Amino acid sequence: MKKTSFVWHPNTQMREWDSFDEIKSAKGVWLTDSKGNKILDAVGSMWCNVWGHSNPELVNAITTQSKKLQHSSMFNLTNEPAEKLAEHLVKISPKMHRVFYSDNGSSAMEIAIKLALQYWKNIGEKKKTRIATLENGYHGDTFGAMSVGYVPEFFGKFKKQLFTTLQFPVPNEYRVPNGFTFLDHQNYCLEKIEKEFSKKTNIAAFIMESGAQVAGGVIIYPKGFQKKISQLCKKYDVLFVLDEIATGFGRLGSMFQYEEQKSIPDIVAYGKMLTGGYLTMAATLTNKKVYDSFLGEFNDWKHLFHGHTYTGNPIAAAVALESLKMYKKYNLIKKIYNTSKIFEKYYQKISEIDIVGDIRHKGMLMGIEIVSNKKRKTPIRPKKSINKIFFEEGKKNGIYLRTLGNIVMLVPPLIITESELNLLLDKTILTIKSAMPKVL
Ligand SMILES: Cc1ncc(COP(=O)(O)O)c(C=O)c1O
Repeated sequence: MKKTSFVWHPNTQMREWDSFDEIKSAKGVWLTDSKGNKILDAVGSMWCNVWGHSNPELVNAITTQSKKLQHSSMFNLTNEPAEKLAEHLVKISPKMHRVFYSDNGSSAMEIAIKLALQYWKNIGEKKKTRIATLENGYHGDTFGAMSVGYVPEFFGKFKKQLFTTLQFPVPNEYRVPNGFTFLDHQNYCLEKIEKEFSKKTNIAAFIMESGAQVAGGVIIYPKGFQKKISQLCKKYDVLFVLDEIATGFGRLGSMFQYEEQKSIPDIVAYGKMLTGGYLTMAATLTNKKVYDSFLGEFNDWKHLFHGHTYTGNPIAAAVALESLKMYKKYNLIKKIYNTSKIFEKYYQKISEIDIVGDIRHKGMLMGIEIVSNKKRKTPIRPKKSINKIFFEEGKKNGIYLRTLGNIVMLVPPLIITESELNLLLDKTILTIKSAMPKVL
């Protein structure tokens, strides 16, 4: 008889799954299940793995630190790894001044929202309370994060409890509205933002993902788009808040997208790959202007009321620090530049598949949009979850996939070798082809 599992899995219709494969161990890009099958981790264990699994340097950083201090509170105290990591993060994050730790991306975004809203209160601008965002963005699953990254399909059931934001359209080259060229549409999106900003409608902050909307289907912003929004924020005195949780630390080919896009934020959130994918930690960084607004006498009540039990955990900080040092040691960003070209070699072969509507790729991220009608660009909607179909087909081909809606996501560990990436892309093609009759 099958053993009962008491685990409730994330974003999962539990009735669809009889059981879940158990991963027993992992090395490099390979996961090994309890039956001894090896599968390639095509999604970098939910987009967070940098150096592959069981990397000896990172494992050593964890074991060494855990023997010294496994956890102590950041309330009234501090610890060496958290201090060193904050110093390092400030050093590599242009114009950032202080680091506020948390333990997951959603929390880092909650903190970013609170900082942005409280900043205006602290400087006496009580009316600036509205938040502007981009349509189709995603910032996590907690209430603040759901409000600023409102995805109707995911969060519609909580709509009444969420706060309203001003949402602006995002240019998407694959789905340009009728009557527009792609360039016209970009200008239209930016003009809409400027029009609203110029009405002086008490907007406290503009919050967006940096470089691309990842969960929204790998929508890579056109060149200059993010920069222009940052300039509009400066011009109209709106705080510019970036979410680098999925895109920072090399995923899109540069350390931080905000640097590449020449769009310096007031507040930026990091998560996922911050610890190389080994432990749970996130961080919200601010510039000096925002930080200074929180300073005052105790009874001014300008300080930030936020703190989690595991904030600044020394083991997580130690492994994050080690991972960040390794970027330089192994010249990772340059390596990614070369590995990333392998994806380009496959554009043609993938796009020839009947159900592939579009391929969107940057750095070490590729989204393959699956459609039922190429001409009409109709997103595929089978009765069973697309994710489960692709997961099962992927498994047969030796790859671990987790699709997002109708997008097949390739988000491998950054350290994947060129031959492993060739293998992954060959297996992805086989998987899409074998899934085709099941999704149509
Ligand atoms: C851009 C972005 N922000 C925030 C989050 C939330 O992070 P977490 O899942 O660690 O709460 C995610 C997660 O996918 C994300 O992609």
